[in-house]
Amino acid sequence: MVALARALAVRPVSAVRKARAGVVRMRRAVSRSPRSLFLRELMAQPLAVGAICASSPYLAARMAALVDLADEGWVVELGGGTGVITAALLAHGVPAARLAVVEQSDRLAAHLRQRFPAIQVLHGDAAELPALLARLDGADGPVRVRHIVSGLPLLSIPAPARQRILQAGAQVLAPGGRLLQFTYALHGPSPWQQAGLVCQRRERVLANLPPARVDVLAHAPSA
Ligand SMILES: C[S@@+](CC[C@H](N)C(=O)[O-])C[C@H]1O[C@@H](n2cnc3c(N)ncnc32)[C@H](O)[C@@H]1O
Repeated sequence: MVALARALAVRPVSAVRKARAGVVRMRRAVSRSPRSLFLRELMAQPLAVGAICASSPYLAARMAALVDLADEGWVVELGGGTGVITAALLAHGVPAARLAVVEQSDRLAAHLRQRFPAIQVLHGDAAELPALLARLDGADGPVRVRHIVSGLPLLSIPAPARQRILQAGAQVLAPGGRLLQFTYALHGPSPWQQAGLVCQRRERVLANLPPARVDVLAHAPSA
């Protein structure tokens, strides 16, 4: 009887405590989830994020599939966000040792470092690409990049900043290298064409919110 009375007296309190602790743990997990992280960044920096949600896994897989694995140079992703495209690049077979991701948001850069410890996350502005790449472990002199995979919202970035990004990207892209960019503008030229790159191919990806276009660009072949 005494034991029963003790159990009845103690258990409800400890059950309530456990339930409360569970709720706190769940709230923490939700607030750290990629989706809520993305939403928080969107509220803080709408123009830099430039999308209502992260890319769909389908769009990410289409971008990754355009990376030629036979080409052994660096693959540099611009605007990694919560890492949807990064994950697709690794799943496609890009070696982590040759993958670097540039992200300007400190919260998102920290998230990417935690989620992908084997890749190099460069926290900074894509407009400073040559200087950021000089920081890469294993970089020996100026890095020429074989693939740039960009999720930057170029159309919502103010024109002067966009121009600096375009110049920086074109500068580090190796001759014969490829630049992949997705955009929600289904028509019209790619902003990268202003930096002298030529569009080799484009495709629409409808399974994304909103539907997107993927452009494949490269330096013009020398005459
Ligand atoms: C549209 S989100 C794309 C995120 C992710 N790649 C995806 O497809 O879901 C754009 C990302 O680019 C980052 N970004 C915007 N401007 C940048 C800049 N100048 N340099 C580096 N990252 C930038 C934003 O912080 C954001 O994470």
